[in-house]
Amino acid sequence: MIAFKTVKYHIERESALNSKLPHVGTSIFSTMTGLANQYQAINLSQGFPEFDAPERLKATLNQTVGQGMNQYSPSAGIAPLQQQIGALVERKYGLKIDAAQAVTVTSGATEALFVAISAIVQAGDEVIVFDPAYDSYEPAIHLAGGIAVPMALRAPHYAIDWPLLEQAVSDKTRAIIINTPHNPSARVLSKADIEALKGIVIKHDLLLISDEVYEHITFDGNTHHSVLGEKALFERAFVVSSFGKTFHCTGWKMGYCVAPPKLTAEFRKIHQYVTFSSFTPAQFAIADMLENEPEHIDELGAFYQRKRDLLVNALASSRFTCLPSEGTYFLLLDYRRLSDLSDVEFCEYLVKEVGVAAIPLSVFYHTPNDDKVIRLCFAKEDATLLSAAEKLCQL
Ligand SMILES: Cc1ncc(COP(=O)(O)O)c(C=O)c1O
Repeated sequence: MIAFKTVKYHIERESALNSKLPHVGTSIFSTMTGLANQYQAINLSQGFPEFDAPERLKATLNQTVGQGMNQYSPSAGIAPLQQQIGALVERKYGLKIDAAQAVTVTSGATEALFVAISAIVQAGDEVIVFDPAYDSYEPAIHLAGGIAVPMALRAPHYAIDWPLLEQAVSDKTRAIIINTPHNPSARVLSKADIEALKGIVIKHDLLLISDEVYEHITFDGNTHHSVLGEKALFERAFVVSSFGKTFHCTGWKMGYCVAPPKLTAEFRKIHQYVTFSSFTPAQFAIADMLENEPEHIDELGAFYQRKRDLLVNALASSRFTCLPSEGTYFLLLDYRRLSDLSDVEFCEYLVKEVGVAAIPLSVFYHTPNDDKVIRLCFAKEDATLLSAAEKLCQL
């Protein structure tokens, strides 16, 4: 009798379920990794490091757990980590902040982005997002009742047409989301881009969410122009970063948001109900790394530039065209000399027949588009990159 009642209840509940994200299915990243495992292909699709986190970071995490620091932290993060983030912001971008009022530690950049969007987007608000973009922005805008307005960036340069962007600003526009260094294009916004952005944001009284998770990974002398380095922009911005990218520990899901106190107050109201606080032992370990091994961050650009160069050189005799990679740990390849297949079909062929998993660029687009470009992640061991390149050169 009780069992019957339970089944009936589930049926009624299911028919009442109206998906809030009806178009969202399994992500291409899970699909490609699944195929890479099934076909034993080299996986350059998903964006995570193959190598381990620094020894000091792991040792301090173990010690912290051993010492019993295993309970909730303050919702905004432990004070030593907030202060180290404040010191990093000052050292890198010359901005002095009151860390207690401006820094919130989050469970990855993904949480910070979700919370920032939830904090400012009201029903009917428009948010300008670049197209292609990291896949978490649009669903978060949609869940907040807002509308994502895509601004197309096209191969091979993925340059921003600022006058066109300004035309997309309406009386409903609430914010712009930028991402530099940019995933998936691997381009870095220039000083001129930041100036153009500043003009538009101030003129139209907009808010800004700046996703800077690859802030320490730029190449060939390309400087990362952070919104934290532009006081007039920072006054109206949430700047988001990720320790997962910086310390090769994506699985820890540790990130943070820096914003002026007024915006931070709204951010924290939501953060406390999304997760309340983030993994306490990792906060101590990261604070220790920032204080005692700052060279890790300072050497990160050179570390990844060497890997990028290794892969680009190993692909030199291939029929792919490597597009410029100025930052992040991604390299885009144009394959139009090799195939007329769509980028999704081409990636399926690569993983099944060639033994290399990549991501088709079209999946990052809101508006359908196929420039015959695929994305490779080079945060991998040298031997992995060389084996993948050898396979790709055979095409
Ligand atoms: C542009 C961008 N933003 C945010 C994230 C998410 O970072 P986290 O793993 O810290 O949530 C990623 C991860 O791939 C990313 O590429």
